[in-house]
Amino acid sequence: MLDMHSHVIYGVDDGSTDRDMSLAMLRAARSIGIDTIIATPHMRGRYQAEDLIRRRYEELAPEADALGIRLKLGFEFHYSLCLELKDRLREFCLDGTETLLLEFDFNGSAGVCERVIDMVQRAGCDIIVAHPERYQCVEENPIVAERWRDRGCQLQLDGLSLSGGIFDKTARTARTLLNKGLIDLIATDAHRPEHYARYAAAVRKLDLSRFDQEI
Ligand SMILES: [Fe+2]
Repeated sequence: MLDMHSHVIYGVDDGSTDRDMSLAMLRAARSIGIDTIIATPHMRGRYQAEDLIRRRYEELAPEADALGIRLKLGFEFHYSLCLELKDRLREFCLDGTETLLLEFDFNGSAGVCERVIDMVQRAGCDIIVAHPERYQCVEENPIVAERWRDRGCQLQLDGLSLSGGIFDKTARTARTLLNKGLIDLIATDAHRPEHYARYAAAVRKLDLSRFDQEI
């Protein structure tokens, strides 16, 4: 099983804090049947962490391999950097692809999101939108998510979003998007070892085979 969104690389964002935690995350992932992880550290305002991310990835990949996990590298790319780095977007795509895992601001306007989508596509990249269920514009109007798909984006649910109860807005939006058939991909967005077991519990009622996750 592939996990295409994970903050398993330590010391580069709000995910794993140290090497031991990264190893614990890899073991936890393996224990729920994951055998391939695309590490997707945040690429936000302080993108000078890029070199460190690539070094830590090189360090962790053989350790992951020894634990039975093929570790690949991508980024969770914040939309605010798209203009500034528009000539380098391919360098931040998911390992071996021309697909960018794109993250918007939680309260970003639908119009700005669409302009960024156009810009990334004009730069020659495909787009996976990370956790659409968390964005206010989608929560208020799921047609926004439908328009992103109509423009050719794939939508990636954070499986942990499903663990929220009926009063949890994100969980409600996640279920709405799933029920409307607007979710193409599902991932853990794991930041800590325990997120993997929680993910497994949250998605246990879903037929994961309906998500085409080849990469
Ligand atoms: Fe993430």
